[in-house]
Amino acid sequence: MTTRRLVLSRSAALIGAASTGLLLPQIARAQSGKIRVGLMLPYTGTFAQLGVAIENGVRMAINEKGGKLGGRDIEWFKVDDEAEPSKGVENATKLVQRDKVDVLIGTVHSGVQMGIQKVVRESGTLCLIPNAGVHAATRALCAPNVFRTSFTNSQPTLALGKAMVDKGHKKAVWITWKYAAGDEAFEGFRDSYTKAGGTIIKELGLPFPNVEFQALLTEIASLKPDAVACFFAGGGAAKFIKDYAAAGLKGKIPLYGSGFLTEGVLDAAGPAADGIITTMHYGDSLNTPRDNKFRLEYAKTFRMQPDVYAVQGYDTGLLLAHGMAAVKGDIGAKQALYKSMETAVIDSPRGKWTMSPSHNPVQDMYLRVVENKENKVIGVAAKALADSGAGCKMA
Ligand code: PHB
Repeated sequence: MTTRRLVLSRSAALIGAASTGLLLPQIARAQSGKIRVGLMLPYTGTFAQLGVAIENGVRMAINEKGGKLGGRDIEWFKVDDEAEPSKGVENATKLVQRDKVDVLIGTVHSGVQMGIQKVVRESGTLCLIPNAGVHAATRALCAPNVFRTSFTNSQPTLALGKAMVDKGHKKAVWITWKYAAGDEAFEGFRDSYTKAGGTIIKELGLPFPNVEFQALLTEIASLKPDAVACFFAGGGAAKFIKDYAAAGLKGKIPLYGSGFLTEGVLDAAGPAADGIITTMHYGDSLNTPRDNKFRLEYAKTFRMQPDVYAVQGYDTGLLLAHGMAAVKGDIGAKQALYKSMETAVIDSPRGKWTMSPSHNPVQDMYLRVVENKENKVIGVAAKALADSGAGCKMA
């Protein structure tokens, strides 16, 4: 009994000391030690380049802030998630339980994100999503410790439908990989296209990351729509663009998409990509001082051109640095940390953006056309577009 009371009063004293700022030596040491940052990204498979671009962006933003977070040095941990949903929980658990990361940055693939979401909702680990757009992460399964710096899957395509109808395309075929990202991108397309007066005559799909497009392209040729809209990304997108041209559809049936179709793939796709029109929260010719500075620095550092994934990674680094500076490296000061991240205005190469109440960017969507291996910006398709955040209740 005496022992128990002693233990209780000692822990009460600990809590008291922490909240009054009189930190005991071991806690003070923990907070001045290295901050453990986990990267869970695809480094192999069709999304490998996306993972690399995101990591480049994260590191670049943090290096610009002196290479530290809230004054603390960083220890990095990396896991290749292979864009493989069945290993999502296992890989996230490696970072959270084995490596004891303070923050998990990940990932690209919506299915894998669902595994991360489960793990970080249970552990309370701070999680920054640098790409995966799965709706649930910032809707029904939103969480105070989860912040997205990219988009929801329906955000880019919500800006696409009207742009297509404005160009006179009244009948469209939709084609995608059949998984959360493609299905939710379709929701945005369906809502915006039908609202603008368009009709979707057929939805086509194939499993991720399958690239056997031939039979589906033959079907598109026989359906003769006014236009085709799609969601593909990474290596598979480059192949889709080339196969579309090789099937004789380029120049006959205009190809549209959410902008991932033409991000990071223009060297691989070559002239087959010319003329493709997409909507996206970034473009190659924004020509703002902020973006020009970023693009120059990125090209110098990594010997390649940045794309939307590099920007999302960069903004992830900016957001994390912002939060950590606000709490001076004390990642345990959760309320203050989350508050500063919720109210941040991110001075991004894409243009300034803010966080919605469900922790997803409120941002402009640009209309772009591919010209000479560039996603040339030709307009703003939607201003300050926010996701609905439907069903999000922050605990
Ligand atoms: C996703 O799975 O959420 C995803 C993957 C690649 C993209 C966009 C979304 O380019």
